[in-house]
Amino acid sequence: MQSPELSIRLHANENPFVVPANVWQEIQERLTNIELNRYPGQAMKAFYASLSAHLGYPAEMLLAGNGLEEIILLLLASLGRKGRVILPTPTFFVYKQVAAALGLSILELPLIEDSWQLDIPLILKEVGLEEGLIIICRPNNPTGNVFPREDVLRLLEETQLTVVVDEAYFGFCEETMIEDVARYDRLIVLRTFSKTFGLAGIRLGYMVANQNLVEVVHQVRPAFNLNALTLIVGCVALEQEQQLLARVPAIVEERERLATLLGRLPGVKVYPSETNFLLIKLPFPAQPLWQKLHEDGISVRLVGNEMPQFLRISVGLPTENDLLLAALAEQLNAGGQQE
Ligand SMILES: Cc1ncc(COP(=O)(O)O)c(C=O)c1O
Repeated sequence: MQSPELSIRLHANENPFVVPANVWQEIQERLTNIELNRYPGQAMKAFYASLSAHLGYPAEMLLAGNGLEEIILLLLASLGRKGRVILPTPTFFVYKQVAAALGLSILELPLIEDSWQLDIPLILKEVGLEEGLIIICRPNNPTGNVFPREDVLRLLEETQLTVVVDEAYFGFCEETMIEDVARYDRLIVLRTFSKTFGLAGIRLGYMVANQNLVEVVHQVRPAFNLNALTLIVGCVALEQEQQLLARVPAIVEERERLATLLGRLPGVKVYPSETNFLLIKLPFPAQPLWQKLHEDGISVRLVGNEMPQFLRISVGLPTENDLLLAALAEQLNAGGQQE
């Protein structure tokens, strides 16, 4: 069996770089002063103050959580019953999973096949003037593209929906709607420390929205939903943002190299990406190939039953990507379909 140390993790869209040594040292120094016998009220206050200064929005417009996964749960639990939860699909699977677990009413509307754009006329026709939540991942996971800002503005202006714009991959592309929050009361923007900051392990994400919406979500938030260790690391990350983000151009460059090389494999279609992952379409069902890669210690992501020929591949370190490319080339040249 493959030892865990050898496994190449290209399935979770993690940042492949570890925390830079000087940032890590700063974290360690700050952690020594925490009083772990206390609840993290002070640490929460300090983090909210830092985040507020960082974003230029008052703390009342912010809500931080244990990764965006917690924010998604809190959002759906507090606002998900206003109407249906509209999911342009394919999208980040957690939204459907949580909405279904909460017994919410879900409407999945397909993106336009292959361009992966929002089908705005279809959405407008289906939702009419109903209230409810629509989830827009921008860039989208697993398709990797960014929907035009104008499309999202149309949803805000021509529907009564509350629009959640998940910017988990902000920073790999510079597109953001965070400034629009000041103008639109029904716009919620989500961000995470997991991707460009490379801090998926601390579990930290946040939402930015109109104060009234934030208050509703706060009502379902556990009082101390964030722990002091995460909050301290979060503060250091905001202070040392430049150092953490300095690795992003290398990931983007490597994404483009990987995309080019994947595109040279026989029968493989690579979709343009504004993120740290690539969506590819194979000339045959992906599952057997996924299984073979898994046995070789390379983890990539199957995209779901509706998209059997697709794989989602995170951009790893160049050495990891080269191993993936070699394994894929071997399989594709051999026909790839052996069960
Ligand atoms: C679109 C999207 N939103 C949210 C998340 C979860 O982020 P977090 O690590 O903050 O829970 C992911 C993780 O892959 C994602 O792709």
